[in-house]
Amino acid sequence: MLGFLKNKDMELPFAESYKIKMIETLKRSTREQRLQWIKEAKYNLFKLKSDQVFIDLLTDSGTGAMSDRQWAAIMTGDESYAGARSYFEFRDTVSRIMGFEYVLPTHQGRAAENVLFSVLVKSGDVVPGNSHFDTTKGHIEFRKAHAVDCTIDEAFNTTLEHPFKGNINIAKLEKVLKENSRERIPFVIVTVTCNSSGGQPVSIANLKAVYELSHSYGIPVLFDSARFAENAYFIKLREEGYQDKSIKEIVREMYQYADMATMSAKKDGIVNIGGFIACNSADIYRDACTFNIMFEGYVTYGGMAGRDMAALAVGLDESTEFDYLETRIKQVEYLGNKLVEYGVPIQHPIGGHAVFIDAAKALPFVPKEQYQAQTLGIELYIEAGIRGVEIGTLLADRDPVTRENRYPDLELLRLAIPRRVYTNNHMDVIAAALKNVFDRRNSITKGYSIYWEAPIMRHFTVELEKVD
Ligand code: F0G
Repeated sequence: MLGFLKNKDMELPFAESYKIKMIETLKRSTREQRLQWIKEAKYNLFKLKSDQVFIDLLTDSGTGAMSDRQWAAIMTGDESYAGARSYFEFRDTVSRIMGFEYVLPTHQGRAAENVLFSVLVKSGDVVPGNSHFDTTKGHIEFRKAHAVDCTIDEAFNTTLEHPFKGNINIAKLEKVLKENSRERIPFVIVTVTCNSSGGQPVSIANLKAVYELSHSYGIPVLFDSARFAENAYFIKLREEGYQDKSIKEIVREMYQYADMATMSAKKDGIVNIGGFIACNSADIYRDACTFNIMFEGYVTYGGMAGRDMAALAVGLDESTEFDYLETRIKQVEYLGNKLVEYGVPIQHPIGGHAVFIDAAKALPFVPKEQYQAQTLGIELYIEAGIRGVEIGTLLADRDPVTRENRYPDLELLRLAIPRRVYTNNHMDVIAAALKNVFDRRNSITKGYSIYWEAPIMRHFTVELEKVD
């Protein structure tokens, strides 16, 4: 009689789009050991040895796992000084994926900035953009030019849900373009996804609007492309009209709105070292070649081994596949959702490469003068051997004139997830460890003070002591 009532099929859960062929052993430690090690490291997470870390979330840069196809490419890399076959494979891949004619290899992203900005940026210039990454800003300011942040205001409210928090506010951009002469603005820079605002994407509509406005003022557009593929994934998921397009189609459309690009291939190139400049201007390419030869290496290797360029060519193709990106971004989301479940305050929406913890809310009883995000990072390390990175007051450094601490709008601890490296069991450990720290926030009332610091970029080498 009940024969016609069929059992409902169970919906199959999500699983990774790859399997594991090679593993690396992780070292466990005790709380006592970690207390000792972090003290020896002067409470600076950068000074820890990697063997003292169980789960390393310091960065997603150069820390990804290469595929079997990438390792195979390593073996066939061509190490010729000039005109290496591996260069042409890599150049043709960049041209096919991003649509640029000229491609200049560099050893990493900041090297691409150094070479290209040597051509384009001069003293007194103004470079508008969306929360420029530290090295990008550094290379602008080093040339006595100014980076102007035109990110939308919504990006600075961590609890607000907005699909494209990396977007540029067009009115803010237009103001900068109006108030400065064409000669003073070498380009507008769009960071996709925007690391500094939480791995947040930029929509195609915004890229198009930025491009059209900039071009109406005769100013070219540069994409800081470190996480361009993750940006395309978010467009596919969140922007109307893109659901049925492939990631590669979306990437090609994104780059219709760029005149040039700098790339840290250590992120969405899924290689351990590498970067490049790409553009359509023969003049800019020619001028950049001269600086590349001076700073990086000859124009067909620019600081990379042939085998690295070969692996990068494969990595760019893999990172622009939907299945890979879905696996990657779902893992970051998995961690973020666990933290939300535990009540840990994080930045919303969850970004592409990292989960950002709102440390001012997570440790409300630590005075901000005692570095809340750093304190949270140290507590998490002591709790479970997990290493994140402070994106807060230490990183914001001192005002160059007054030498006072600069307090940024957001005091964050970034947990960056390396590509294809950890499993969701690791994510569970991270979330549980943070929950433990968060649950005892009432008893964490003291942070750290600076014992020694460098005059610039202090966070890498700063030495701290506990406040008693
Ligand atoms: N642009 C962005 C958006 C970045 O995130 C980075 C590096 C760079 C440029 C510089 O590239 O490291 O290859 O020289 N970000 C790393 C991070 C270091 O941890 O977020 P690089």
